[in-house]
Amino acid sequence: MGSSAIHRSDVAAEVLAPRQITLPFAGSAEEETLRRACAYPRLRFMGSKHRLLPWIAGHLRRLSFESALDAFSGSGCVSYLLKCLGKQVTSNDFLLFASALARATIENSRHKVSETTVRGLLRQRTGGDGFILRTFRGVFFQPGDLRFLDTVWANMDAASNEAEKAIVVSAMVRACLKRQPRGVFTVAGDPERYKDGRRDLRMSLEEHFIESIGVFNNLVFSNGCRNKALCGDVFDVPGQHDLVYLDPPYVPRTDDNCYVKRYHFLEGLASCWRAEGTEILHHTKVRKIPKRFTPFSYRRTALEGFGRLFERFRESILVLSYSSNGYPDLEVLVKLMRSFKRGVAIHERGHRYHFGTHAQVSSRRAVVREYLVIGE
Ligand SMILES: C[S@@+](CC[C@H](N)C(=O)[O-])C[C@H]1O[C@@H](n2cnc3c(N)ncnc32)[C@H](O)[C@@H]1O
Repeated sequence: MGSSAIHRSDVAAEVLAPRQITLPFAGSAEEETLRRACAYPRLRFMGSKHRLLPWIAGHLRRLSFESALDAFSGSGCVSYLLKCLGKQVTSNDFLLFASALARATIENSRHKVSETTVRGLLRQRTGGDGFILRTFRGVFFQPGDLRFLDTVWANMDAASNEAEKAIVVSAMVRACLKRQPRGVFTVAGDPERYKDGRRDLRMSLEEHFIESIGVFNNLVFSNGCRNKALCGDVFDVPGQHDLVYLDPPYVPRTDDNCYVKRYHFLEGLASCWRAEGTEILHHTKVRKIPKRFTPFSYRRTALEGFGRLFERFRESILVLSYSSNGYPDLEVLVKLMRSFKRGVAIHERGHRYHFGTHAQVSSRRAVVREYLVIGE
């Protein structure tokens, strides 16, 4: 274990005094809000807008609204920004693990996971029924890591309410994303070639988990509003919201944008593979679960999907994140939004996506134009 690794005896220190993220800001309330929002962990989530939070915040601040829906919340960082801005936030995503992140950080305004609870979660049992170890041995992680996940799930009752459980699941998710080479679950194995000595790959899942509990505890606060986290299809989200932030998957020019394909392990883990839709496809090498249909994944259905989306939320201020590498083209979407909204403004900036290991990153970096399309 490397010197930066966290030992079991350090649980208290990590849970009670997690590492702070420092930003070069000082002073004003606006900067303080942004500092708080940017403390949200970067989760290596495909399409995360974490790097764009200051830019998005600048545009949101000019709009007049009290309630907001983050309709495709993903990692949860934009929902958290909205919470920090003092808005009444509803987060929605059809992925269970994304919804758990939002329950822990958006809906939850006061519950933290205590040191005692962490000790209860880590209490050595035989690892429950060993389902995770049996199913994923030789596929992802080391046997000890998998046994650890089984143990946490077997001891989940140590968490005394749904908010605490959501923090525990979120901490497992962050741990797995950090420990997994490239943060995706498309290829089996724990290949030596990815072990370039980085701290994240040297630490065990348990060490990452303990650190992550501290990170999520540190995010808990009340903004004085009743915020909600939903888990479902965007077209089933009830109610009206002053502003709706839309960040659907983009149909890429190459490859696909399937979140379940990349993150099936996290999606299963969020319910220990008990939830409907997480049945393991045993014939697949990496023990996938079934894909979930979304119109935003396919050229033939994407445009119609956007049309339904704009129509459904036409009463709200629409804020759409989009990028130059998506399909359909920006002009097509702007024209479509103009058929529902009188004023449509386009804001643009460059954004560098990173997806890969250190060694690969330079070849896989892509500079794309990022847009915020605002319809009022
Ligand atoms: C581009 S990501 C959102 C990223 C997020 N804004 C962030 O900063 O992390 C798109 C999200 O849309 C979700 N999604 C795709 N289709 C959906 C649907 N029909 N209903 C609800 N969520 C959906 C995916 O699960 C994914 O988390």
